[in-house]
Amino acid sequence: MTVGVSFRYILSSPSTAHSDIAVALATLSHAAVPTWGQCGGINYTGDTSCVAGTVCTYLNDWYYQCIPATTTVAPSSVSSQSSVSSSSTSISSSSSSNAPIPVQTGFVKTSGQKFVLNGNTFTAVGENSYWVGLMGYTTAKMSQSLSDIAAAGSTVVRTWGFNEVTAPNGIYYQSWSGSTPTVNTGATGLQNFDNVVAAAKANGLRLIVALTNNWSDYGGMDVYVKQINGSANHDYFYTDPNVISAYKNYIRTFVGRYVNEPTIMAWELANEPRCKGSTGTTSGTCATTTITKWITDISAYIKSIDANHLVAVGDEGFFNELTNPSYPYQGTEGIDFNANLAVSTVDFGTVHLYPEGWGQSANPSSAAWGSQWIDDHATSQKNANKPVILEEFGVTSGQAATYQAWFSSVVSSGLAGDLIWQAGSHLNPDTPNDGYTIYPDSPVYPEIQQHAAALKARG
Ligand SMILES: *[C@@H]1O[C@H](CO)[C@@H](O)[C@H](O)[C@H]1NC(C)=O
Ligand SMILES: *[C@@H]1O[C@H](CO)[C@@H](O)[C@H](O)[C@H]1NC(C)=O
Ligand SMILES: *[C@@H]1O[C@H](CO)[C@@H](O)[C@H](O)[C@H]1NC(C)=O
Repeated sequence: MTVGVSFRYILSSPSTAHSDIAVALATLSHAAVPTWGQCGGINYTGDTSCVAGTVCTYLNDWYYQCIPATTTVAPSSVSSQSSVSSSSTSISSSSSSNAPIPVQTGFVKTSGQKFVLNGNTFTAVGENSYWVGLMGYTTAKMSQSLSDIAAAGSTVVRTWGFNEVTAPNGIYYQSWSGSTPTVNTGATGLQNFDNVVAAAKANGLRLIVALTNNWSDYGGMDVYVKQINGSANHDYFYTDPNVISAYKNYIRTFVGRYVNEPTIMAWELANEPRCKGSTGTTSGTCATTTITKWITDISAYIKSIDANHLVAVGDEGFFNELTNPSYPYQGTEGIDFNANLAVSTVDFGTVHLYPEGWGQSANPSSAAWGSQWIDDHATSQKNANKPVILEEFGVTSGQAATYQAWFSSVVSSGLAGDLIWQAGSHLNPDTPNDGYTIYPDSPVYPEIQQHAAALKARG
C-alpha cells in the first residue's frame, strides 16, 4: 500500500560494516562498549561498561545498549549482569497492563519452504498495521490494537520502522537538517518503537519491520535523495554512495538496537521499492538489475550486523517477463521477483496483491487474477526453496468473496503465509481507514479468523 516511510542516520563509512555489537564482542577484554553497542542482557557475557558519554540502558531482558547520555530516555545504569532482572526501566513496565508478559523464546528461522520456531513449523499469518507506532498512541492503545489483531488468530504483524522528517513533529525516527540526518532515540523516536515491541510481545505477536518506503508517506527514499543528493531522481536511492551510506547508518542504529529481540521476526529493506518514486522522475537508467544489486548489498549489510533475524525485501512481487501482456508480470517497475528471491541474504519472498490498483480486476476478475498470482508465487517458492508470503493484499469491493478465493489459494498452493492489508481497531477515534481496513466488527473479521485456523492446521 501507499502508506510507508523511511529513515536514516550517518555515523560510519561503508567500510565500518561491522556493528558496534560485533565490535563489542570482539573486544571483550579491553575497551568499553561503543555507542549503540550491547552492554547487557540475558546470556550476554561481554563488557558491561560503556564509552564515556553513554549509559548502559535497559531495552528488554535480552538487550542493554550504550545510549548517549544526552537522550531523554531516563536511562538506568547497569553495573553488572546481576542487575538484569531488577531493572526499573523495562520497556514493558510502561504498559498499563499488569498481565505477565508472555515469554517469547527463539528467533523465527526458515527451513526449506517453511518458517520454523524452536524446531516446529511457524505459521506466518496476520495483518498489517503500519500505524501502530506512528500515531502517538499510549502503550495501552498500542496493546489494544495488537490484541484485536491477535484475536483474529494472527501470529505476525507488519509495521513501519521509519518516519523521515525535516521539521520534527509527533512521532518520528529520523530528522534531517540539510544533508545531515539524526536518529531520534528519545521518547518520540526509538523509545516509542520499544513500546511497539513490548506491546507485540505482550500479545504473543512477532513483528515484520520495514526500514524505509518507496512512497513518500512518512518520508521515505525521496527524503534521503533530496537532502543528500539534491535530486528528484527516485532511483538515486539505490545508486548514490552517500545515500546508501546514510541508509546503512540508519539501519545500523535501528537494527542494532533489536539484534537480540526475538519479537522481531524480520527486517525489510523497503516497502514496495520501485525505480519510480513519488517524484515520478528517474535517471533513466534504472532497471531490475539496479534494484537487485541494491538488495544484495543492503541485505548483506543487515546480516553483517544482525545474524539473528530474517531479512526480506518488502516488494510487491512483480515478475520480469518482458513479453507478458499483464503489467505486474512485465518488470517495468524495476522488480524481478525471482532474481531477488535468489539473493543468498534474502531469507523469504514478499508479494503484494492489488488487482484494482494494478488494472487487473477485469482480467477476468480480482478473485481469479489474484488466485493465479498466488499460485505463480507458490511456484517461485518451490523453485527457490524459500518461504514466500502474501504480505499485503486487498480489494475495496467484493471483499468477502474475493478474500475467500485468495485464502483458499494460499492454503492449497503451499504459500508460506499471508498478512492482510490492513488491521483496524476502534480506539476512540478509530485507527486509519483507507477503505481496506478490517475492524473487529467488520463482516470479514470472522473470515480472517477461520483462515488463520485453517492455515495453522495446514502447517
Ligand atoms: C541462555 O542460556 C541458557 C543456557 O545456555 C539457555 O538454555 C537459554 O535458552 C538461553 N536463553 C536465551 C534467551 O538465549
Ligand atoms: C547524485 O547521485 C548520482 C547517482 O549516484 C550521482 O551520479 C550524482 O553525482 C549525485 N549528485 C550529487 C550532488 O551528489
Ligand atoms: C513509489 O512511489 C511513487 C509515488 O509515490 C509511485 O508512483 C510508485 O508507483 C511507487 N512504487 C511503489 C512500488 O509503490
